[in-house]
Amino acid sequence: MHTNFIIRGFGHYAPERVLTNADLEKIVDTTDEWITTRTGIKQRHIVAEGETSSDLGLVAARKALASAGLEPSELTHIVFATFTPDYAIPSAACVLQEKLGIVGQMCLDVQAACSGFLYAMETARGYVALNPSARVLVVAAEVVTSRVNWEDRATCVLFGDAAGAAVLTSGDADETPRVVDIMLGADGALGDLLTVRGGGSAISYKLGQSVGEEYFVEFQGREVFKHAVRHMTSISETLLTRHGMTSADVDVLIPHQANWRIIDAVGRKLGIPLERVFSNVDRYGNTSAASVPVALSEALDLGVIKPGHRVLVPTFGGGFTWGAMLVQF
Ligand code: ACO
Repeated sequence: MHTNFIIRGFGHYAPERVLTNADLEKIVDTTDEWITTRTGIKQRHIVAEGETSSDLGLVAARKALASAGLEPSELTHIVFATFTPDYAIPSAACVLQEKLGIVGQMCLDVQAACSGFLYAMETARGYVALNPSARVLVVAAEVVTSRVNWEDRATCVLFGDAAGAAVLTSGDADETPRVVDIMLGADGALGDLLTVRGGGSAISYKLGQSVGEEYFVEFQGREVFKHAVRHMTSISETLLTRHGMTSADVDVLIPHQANWRIIDAVGRKLGIPLERVFSNVDRYGNTSAASVPVALSEALDLGVIKPGHRVLVPTFGGGFTWGAMLVQF
């Protein structure tokens, strides 16, 4: 049996504090010109002391619930995508549940780095297929800046903190916004290209010992760039073909917001002109799992996505993980 998978509401949030390229010039040996030409990023949001992923996720979740017209108590599942949970235990989903003032729902964290939102959406789709009366909150929230080495100019300029959320239920075939399909992939052999190695069971914390660079995001930029463009393009093409479509059927392309040059390259390879590509990487930087739901929610608020639009959302992230989602608005 095929279940229709409806997005009842979206929400997004970024912390108040903004760090501009000019601010970064005072922290590391960089320039606004280098950051802008290599990445398209002009500023990023960063948490206040003590502000966590679940705090950001809570604001986005409340907005998504309000736009869905649902009370938190009506939820049946919480799926939280993040690689920067508040704690290892309890999960970010459990912490968020408590902050929403509810109890009993199944709570699960999903870790697929920057592809986390799509992995969480596919997980939610599975729960709705198993139980058509499920009402699932999907949250993607990251405090990436907590895992950034502020002495490494090659990484610290790229990232920011934010949260996005969506509420999902089953629905009728003609209801919108409807998730037409999601496809996911991964290749663990590429894992070494993008890592946060410290703090797990391989490189564990030792009491009283200071942490090294391996506890923060490290990556091989050029290799990541190549694989990102290749995988986002090919999975997008496969997904469209599966539904008898081509890139001409896509009204808005919203790729993972890592870097404007990657977004631009994916648009070009898919043959989707710039005026149909949405990006907010200039204002948020790379917010990992949060990037895509923030961009979707913002594109809706700005009227870039309109009723009737077909929106294609490709992602890639550490692992390597990748995916694509097609939404009919
Ligand atoms: N300011 C000034 N100079 C810098 C900075 C900086 N912030 N960072 C690096 N440089 C220097 C380097 O030291 C190097 O100098 P050198 O030639 O004297 O050695 C020079 O700039 C070029 O460095 P490259 O790393 O070769 O620059 P590149 O053109 O590859 O751009 C970038 C780097 C933007 C990271 C690019 O590789 C990229 O877009 N990669 C993919 C995105 C990515 O990796 N994102 C990480 C997260 S991925 C994810 O979202 C899942």
